[in-house]
Amino acid sequence: MMKRIGVLTSGGDAPGMNAAIRGVVRAALGRGVEVVGFLHGYVGLIQGETVPLTSQDVGGIITLGGTKLRTARSAEFMTPEGRQRARAVLESQRVDGLVVIGGDGSLAGARVLHQEFDFPVMGIPGSIDNDIPGTDFSIGFDTAVMTALGAIDRVRDTAYSHERVFVIEVMGRRNGFIALEVGLAGGAEGVLIPEVPYSLLDLCEGIVAMSEKGKRSCIIVVAEGAARALDVKDFIQKNTGFEARYLVLGHMQRGGSPTAFDRVLALRLGAHAANRLLSGFRGEMVGVDGGHLVSHPLSFVLSQRRMVDPEKLLLVEVMAH
Ligand code: F6P
Repeated sequence: MMKRIGVLTSGGDAPGMNAAIRGVVRAALGRGVEVVGFLHGYVGLIQGETVPLTSQDVGGIITLGGTKLRTARSAEFMTPEGRQRARAVLESQRVDGLVVIGGDGSLAGARVLHQEFDFPVMGIPGSIDNDIPGTDFSIGFDTAVMTALGAIDRVRDTAYSHERVFVIEVMGRRNGFIALEVGLAGGAEGVLIPEVPYSLLDLCEGIVAMSEKGKRSCIIVVAEGAARALDVKDFIQKNTGFEARYLVLGHMQRGGSPTAFDRVLALRLGAHAANRLLSGFRGEMVGVDGGHLVSHPLSFVLSQRRMVDPEKLLLVEVMAH
């Protein structure tokens, strides 16, 4: 029987991580199990930086972006020595199980802890990138999309007034989930993502063709992993005759109060993770599939790649004309 579990947030922060912490803590307390928080992700786990997490400690955090437990990326945890230290801390803290909230790197850390020491872990997908397999949504994606969309809608007003092309760079080093979603929702004339090869010349031809049909302004959304907005802007300006501007949205996409969707998702995943762990399941990641709570072995999750929906990319093109 578990008496005390730990929770940490790791990697890039995501709006809704606090709600997930709240979900874990209140579900565990409801089953008579104490929760301790480790600060700064695996860095704090190795160094034994702990904070108690009572019901009051997670009060009022559901509305907050970022993570109350802070976050970091730990090079030391990648080493066997670092993980031995982490294990010793878990023992000395009398922690029987650990919930890890984060992206694929953080979940890979949880899997190693489980594999090397047979330590009970449960992962919760938290990343604005939404690239984690085994779940339809990861915590923070919806909020990041809404934040980026708000910026794009504003830029569209000025693009229209000045008859300009605007290139807007959104986050996504390895994937275009945010780019595709905000591109569709914001009525973008083009979306460039890292997963799908593209030609800037074709893009320019498309812009010229649209202008011949009367369109006098365009929004092009670029995922950071596909191209630099500045380069795309220069190319478009040279090859279309349009005046062009660019904007890099950057880390503003990671901040802000989580949407209702992310809060509810995070609470559900947090409570589900705690319940699974306390019911004897280990080495899993919780997620949602078609609205239903699910869980998968971490080894399965980390062997998959989540792909963007090609139908959505096609829809961007169809909608642009
Ligand atoms: O993985 C989340 C993410 O926001 C990516 O979209 C982005 O490329 C990266 O983190 C930025 O990382 P950092 O905060 O270390 O600059």
